[in-house]
Amino acid sequence: MQITCALVTISDRASRGEYEDLGGPALRDEAQRLGWKVVGESMVPDDIRQIQRAIREQIARGAQLVLTTGGTGVAPRDVTPEAVLEIADREIPGFGEAMRMRSLAITPNAILSRGLAASVDRTLVICLPGKPAGAVECLGFVVGAVPHCVKVLQQVPTSC
Ligand code: MTE
Repeated sequence: MQITCALVTISDRASRGEYEDLGGPALRDEAQRLGWKVVGESMVPDDIRQIQRAIREQIARGAQLVLTTGGTGVAPRDVTPEAVLEIADREIPGFGEAMRMRSLAITPNAILSRGLAASVDRTLVICLPGKPAGAVECLGFVVGAVPHCVKVLQQVPTSC
């Protein structure tokens, strides 16, 4: 089964065009390298309703997996976790735990990321940090569980 995935970049400054979005393209390259089909990409400011709308649009487009990048930190405008948890059926805590635990070996600032994963409808949403290298690193720390998780959420028969 080929995973259909979508990318949502969450950044006030990138969405205003003040700097180039590097996180979205970095995740697109990584998703394609992993053999996933990228069915959509969008960019929104750090705004709860716009984040929720962007995720729902990608789910409606057929994404079984949505990767967000940005807005996981502790700055006042960082609201990605709040936006996702408000529309989530359930959080899947192991993703955030693994991302922080493994990232701490790279940078002490990893403890500031509130990155997480949750199911929204039957879609797996993984919230990654905004820095392109951090987003790709964190995806790498959890990628082993993604195919099984997507299949279980999509109710495709699978074995552990
Ligand atoms: N995790 C990894 N693996 N690599 C990183 O470079 N950067 C950290 C952290 N997690 C980083 C990381 C930093 S500097 C911040 S501020 C937080 O993620 C939150 O980033 P965000 O607010 O852009 O989402």
